[in-house]
Amino acid sequence: MTQGEPLRYPIPTEATLEPPAEWARLRAQCPVARVTLPSGDEATLVTRYEDVRRVLSDPRFTRPTPADDAARIADVESGGVFNSEMASVLPQHGEGHLKWRRMIGEWFTARRMNALRPGIEAMAEQLVDEMVKNGAPADLKASVGFPLPVWVICDMLGVPDADRDRFAHWSDLMLSMTRCTQAEMDAAQAEFGRYMAGHIAAKRARPGEDLLSALISDTDSDGEPMSDRVLVSTGIGLLVAGHETTANMIGKMMAMLLADRRRWEELLADRSLVRTAVEEALRMDANAGFGMARYLHEDVEIAGTVVPGGTTAVCSMAAANRDESVFSRAAEMDLHRSPNPHLAFGAGAHSCLGQVLARTELQVVLEVLLRKLASLELAVAVADLRRVEGLVVGGVQELPVRW
Ligand code: HEM
Repeated sequence: MTQGEPLRYPIPTEATLEPPAEWARLRAQCPVARVTLPSGDEATLVTRYEDVRRVLSDPRFTRPTPADDAARIADVESGGVFNSEMASVLPQHGEGHLKWRRMIGEWFTARRMNALRPGIEAMAEQLVDEMVKNGAPADLKASVGFPLPVWVICDMLGVPDADRDRFAHWSDLMLSMTRCTQAEMDAAQAEFGRYMAGHIAAKRARPGEDLLSALISDTDSDGEPMSDRVLVSTGIGLLVAGHETTANMIGKMMAMLLADRRRWEELLADRSLVRTAVEEALRMDANAGFGMARYLHEDVEIAGTVVPGGTTAVCSMAAANRDESVFSRAAEMDLHRSPNPHLAFGAGAHSCLGQVLARTELQVVLEVLLRKLASLELAVAVADLRRVEGLVVGGVQELPVRW
């Protein structure tokens, strides 16, 4: 490990779309680095592709739970999903997590996601049409990126359209790391919990075609149904996991594609590049937020260094996605890149359950924008795009565009 002062983490950086120069140095010279988190606690940062993949995939290392003596991310113990009441209700590892994951995973099949595509396309078209009606310049993130994933999740959970705005509000509050107090976070969670409990009771009485209705009637491999507490937390968890991540990624993907307009033109000329372009945007995302923490229950050797049990390892998937030993010309955005085994959705037992859905949303947004707004361009200089501060997942605050 490094000697001397630990690095401050997240590494402060000005550029919104570019990675901090430190990443390359860390991968090359200090793949297992001591860092200080915003809380003041120390952790170990892992930045090489193979190491990140291995730590995330190793079942001995678990997501930190309140029972562990793990490093805290921030002073205000928010961080939504990671430190909430919900995180303690949902099984975080072992057999319980596997059972929970299998039940949810049964619903997130590629076939079902394909069936959702036309609905997602209709929502994206509606949002783009409204943005166009309101005139340029517009904030593409607020107009399309932020609402679309909430609409999709509400649809999936069978939540009425009229409640979409409340969902967006709760989601935003719960992911806030520094913008609001613990009391505000707790209040939002309690309110959201009450809403979900009522919603689940209604679904029990009158099931629909949605995920919650399916979970209510389903049982795990031991024949046990999901308890109401777990159902409520699952509903909240899916919103928190799937809203801001996707909303921010829509903003970042479009920022990257428009920052160098040759990329946009390449896509206009060849729409078959949409899929590989989405994967490349996920790989290139330099503002992916914190990374994933794992609590090391025993000593482990990482990149030749023995990291002692009791350490909290922060895996930077974004730094790993720039690892030259896996991705040739890693700093270049190549819309044709294939294969592209990036780690944006994590790896191992916790890898993103919603990744097919997230990919579908990103592809659909891109297709709709290419079709409807070929003349789309940034309305500000790339240097003026501001980063989201204070959230677990990073992004651009606004994406001003014109057409
Ligand atoms: C671009 C958008 C997204 C990104 C970058 C993303 C990223 C991730 C990552 C990195 C993890 C791993 C967490 C860990 O290792 O501890 C994860 C887990 C998860 N994601 Fe996503 N996600 C996205 C969208 C979604 C969507 C749309 C949903 C569902 C609506 C979703 C649901 C989940 C769930 C339920 C987990 C937890 C899986 C488990 O613990 O077994 N995500 N996501």
